[in-house]
Amino acid sequence: MNTYAWDATPTHEFAAEPSVVLKVLDQTRLPFEVEYVEIADVAACCRAITAMQVRGAPLLGVVAAYGIAIAVHHDASDSALTRSLELLAATRPTAINLHWALSKMARGLWSVPEPERFSAAVKLANAIAQSEADCCRAIGEHGAAWIREHSGERRELNILTHCNAGWLATGAWGTALAPIYALQQQGHKLHVWVDETRPRNQGARLTAWELAQAGIPHTIIADNAAGHLMQHGMVDVVIVGSDRTTASGDVCNKIGTYQKALAARDNDVPFLVALPVSTIDWTITDGVRDIPIEQRDASEVVLLSGPDDDGIARTIRVASVGSSAANFAFDVTPSRLVTTLITERGCIPAKTEAMAALRSE
Ligand code: MRU
Repeated sequence: MNTYAWDATPTHEFAAEPSVVLKVLDQTRLPFEVEYVEIADVAACCRAITAMQVRGAPLLGVVAAYGIAIAVHHDASDSALTRSLELLAATRPTAINLHWALSKMARGLWSVPEPERFSAAVKLANAIAQSEADCCRAIGEHGAAWIREHSGERRELNILTHCNAGWLATGAWGTALAPIYALQQQGHKLHVWVDETRPRNQGARLTAWELAQAGIPHTIIADNAAGHLMQHGMVDVVIVGSDRTTASGDVCNKIGTYQKALAARDNDVPFLVALPVSTIDWTITDGVRDIPIEQRDASEVVLLSGPDDDGIARTIRVASVGSSAANFAFDVTPSRLVTTLITERGCIPAKTEAMAALRSE
């Protein structure tokens, strides 16, 4: 049996056999357990995405692409392909990479005869995964260069990030964390402020874990602490990722990002957004109006889970049973608050003209 290995490092075990099963790191178990989930059909792929066992904009695209390959292995007919594309597209609404990758798979497979569809799908999915990894590496280099150029003679850089935009969210390197990894490799002294990122705590659970693995000094802070730190000169630069960026440079990212951008502007702290070009939605220009914002189950706001001191998994309630809760998962930062966009093709202003030039390259 063929094994389709994908070995970007450090990364998930995509070295599974998409002919049968895709094996991905279960992010809902981190940082307490390193466990893998096996995806053997399109329904399992949808479940892994909606339950956020896999998450992060570029990774959603990569996993959805492999999900199509697995679906085609079971049934390569046009009707099954259409159904699988629809099921995966309905899993999460905001991150455009998911829809971008599905369109690429659809376009690439439609004209391929059924008997050849599976191997074509694996090739396409591998290409998407490799291209996102290459983009992230380039984002790291461009972002590190921008930060070096704008940070003067500082001996230690204090960088603040929100949510998780590291290799867990992309497959390799990350978007917002890629410049941090690159600066570390270049020998810069760094410290990262990690927003906990309520309600799912991707910062506390995932970003802190990633940084610890890489030996990068970091401190987890409550989501509301960033403004205070910026007022006291304790943040040199903010870097976040993006789930969808408009053709005018508005940036949609994890809920709370907009508040960090406001605080950064009020305190003259550069606010950088790192994203592969696959995260740009060229069809829209007004992010607040046009980007669909995922609303997740309210239980994520009022329940907390994790192991107790004896390692036993517990879920606790932090609000009274009678209170209702709302769970908006993303917000939009208007382009005017973004200092620069870091893409795999270089750093550009978050402005319509610069975006158009990027597109025409
Ligand atoms: O809900 P999530 O965890 O999938 O949200 C992820 C983010 O908001 C990331 O910041 C985003 O995908 C950045 S790109 C790696």
